[in-house]
Amino acid sequence: MEPYRNKNMTTEKRTADLLSRMTLEEKVGQMMQLPANSDNNMDKLESMNIGSYLHCTGDMMRVLQTRAEQTRLGIPRIFGIDAIHGHCIDNRATVFPTQLGVSCSWNRDLIQKMGAVTAREVRANGIHWTFSPVLCVARDSRWGRVDETFGEDPWFIGEMANEMIEGYQGKEGYNNWEKIMACGKHYAGYGEAAGGRDAYEAEISRRTMLSLFLPPFEKIVKNGCASLMAGYQAISGEPCSASSWLLRENAKEEWGLDGFIVTDWDNIGSLYTKQKVASDLKEAACLAILAGNDMIMTTPSFYEHAIALVKEGRIEESLIDDSVTRILRAKFRLGLFDEYRHTPSDLEATVLGRADHWEVSAQASRESLVLLKNDNLLPINSQKVKSIALVGSNADDVLAQLGDWSFGSMQAGASDDSFHRDQTVTLLAGLRDRAGRDGITVHFVKGADPLDDAFDQIGEAVRSAASADLTIACVGDTLKLHGEFHDRANLDLTGRQQDLLEAVKATGTPLCVVLMTSKPLSVPWIEETADAIFCAFNPGAKGGTALAEALFGDVNPSGKLTISFPRHVGQQPVHYNRYSGWHSMNDRAMAGQERYIDMPEEALFVFGEGMSYTSFSYSNLTLSSSRLTRGLDLLVSIDLRNRGDRDGTEIIQLYINDLYSSVTTPVKEIRGFERVFVKAGETVCVSMTLPFEELSLVNAHLERVVEPGEFEILVGSSSRDGDLLKAVVTVE
Ligand code: BGC
Repeated sequence: MEPYRNKNMTTEKRTADLLSRMTLEEKVGQMMQLPANSDNNMDKLESMNIGSYLHCTGDMMRVLQTRAEQTRLGIPRIFGIDAIHGHCIDNRATVFPTQLGVSCSWNRDLIQKMGAVTAREVRANGIHWTFSPVLCVARDSRWGRVDETFGEDPWFIGEMANEMIEGYQGKEGYNNWEKIMACGKHYAGYGEAAGGRDAYEAEISRRTMLSLFLPPFEKIVKNGCASLMAGYQAISGEPCSASSWLLRENAKEEWGLDGFIVTDWDNIGSLYTKQKVASDLKEAACLAILAGNDMIMTTPSFYEHAIALVKEGRIEESLIDDSVTRILRAKFRLGLFDEYRHTPSDLEATVLGRADHWEVSAQASRESLVLLKNDNLLPINSQKVKSIALVGSNADDVLAQLGDWSFGSMQAGASDDSFHRDQTVTLLAGLRDRAGRDGITVHFVKGADPLDDAFDQIGEAVRSAASADLTIACVGDTLKLHGEFHDRANLDLTGRQQDLLEAVKATGTPLCVVLMTSKPLSVPWIEETADAIFCAFNPGAKGGTALAEALFGDVNPSGKLTISFPRHVGQQPVHYNRYSGWHSMNDRAMAGQERYIDMPEEALFVFGEGMSYTSFSYSNLTLSSSRLTRGLDLLVSIDLRNRGDRDGTEIIQLYINDLYSSVTTPVKEIRGFERVFVKAGETVCVSMTLPFEELSLVNAHLERVVEPGEFEILVGSSSRDGDLLKAVVTVE
């Protein structure tokens, strides 16, 4: 038996042995990835030695893997899929809220479980790798892909991503039927494209890259993330896939990535056709190899050009060897050369959509909801409320509830919008069921449609609201208003949704608004006028049940926003970790307040904000020391009291503010949080550790350092100054 087939040898030895047996053509083939579901690409498995396929469904994985086994060296193929909030691309699988939705739970354990469920279902399906998690920083809601992110804060994103990756990959590795490889994307700065224009140029300095956009990726690479995907866009003129600074110097050399880097869709073709930093496809292939891309997604011409470049002596074969080693290593680690090559055909039937998986999804739906306002309206009091008028088309829109990448999504290439219909409980269904149990009637009128300016059932909605004890209006966006190729210039409610809200409010019936949306919208009227507001970022298949439970108080809401809402699109970007020093009209007269002449500086709803049916108070902020030196961590403690008469969960947040430093720093930055359950009337003391390194900044010489001086330590219930207690620690 050849050494590479010997399971008892180390992965390194097996990889080296296999590599030594491969022709140049076979090696370059390993770097190729094509979509299985188009252009007769399955036929290219043998002729181009294709090493990986994406977008495989149905029987494709089994067919391709069997054919791969019959090739000269029998190298297995890796299949990748966008299972980004559950394995949504299979109709039998479990769907979760989107990343943005579930991020509002701030629940590490839940996010890890979501990853674990997804991994089990993906692997049972014969797929080995998900293009997730997304580590993009969402600071401009105009961008179509805000829903795919963990929100606006890089530190928080890194924390959540590590949990999800641990769920996907496991601690013990992925050579089993439970685990898959993760792919951190889009590396890097992709969410920062100017004007929210997807894949457009991002103007980001090296210092800002090092301060903000690289740290979450560094965190996951150092924690063993198996792969990264390069972003589409250029950063200050250099496309991500052409940047050896990004791919080689940082990810591979500095952080020690031993996994591989895949391009995004035809990134290498785009170097020539769109970004024009290469004068033809061959030059593009050359740039791609030099920069450090290992796997080339969907640029078929790379195959012949890479081979020619090596033969002509323009590219060292050792560069190809490095990429192929990384890819083969992953295949060995997945157990694909051994007993995990062919997925048992009966596995998916027992694993996909298991009851315990749906239970995790339901928990995610519950914890993703954020109560943003409540003027004594909620929870619904069944003694007083006998009839509910439910208005707004999102109350009964499966795609608004599930969000992108859940079939019916452009990238999934699906024309079939019927996926996950049966498993989905819309707000209408969930509310009817829950209200019915208390003998409350629910009358539904669509009223308005976010996709149709002409759709107008406002008269009927008003009649319904006028005769009801409570109006619940479910408004927001739906699938066609976000996603790739779907950026927006205007963040107001679309269609006649705003008119609908104003009309039902005018009836005098109390109004609860459920914002079912993929991203923050500019909804100041709602903030000012509604009596209660729930934010439900694509709350998943069980979102309707979760919302009904929350509205009736069966579950006490605990979610908090991980992204700020602008008052108006012109206020973007409006993230909490802003800088000070804005010369604005009122800064002297109004005690340092910074604002536009026509609008406050502060977001409509801020990062970290979210209410409960009980209330909490914070006291006794204590630091383990008032002075700190390298090597010492700071212990921060706080007393948290549940002042209400209901048990509840609070998300305590810890921010830092470097008071004086050699470069400007944000007014505050989150560096810790705890999710704490407190019984009614009780007080708990919560301690959080702040590692010394968390006080670091990147100085003007691009070095990461902790500078001496005073730091404010802020602890409380949101990023708003008024919600935070303060103490000072001095770094010596
Ligand atoms: C997206 C990626 C995705 C890839 C494969 C691209 O258009 O930007 O996020 O993983 O397609 O579907």
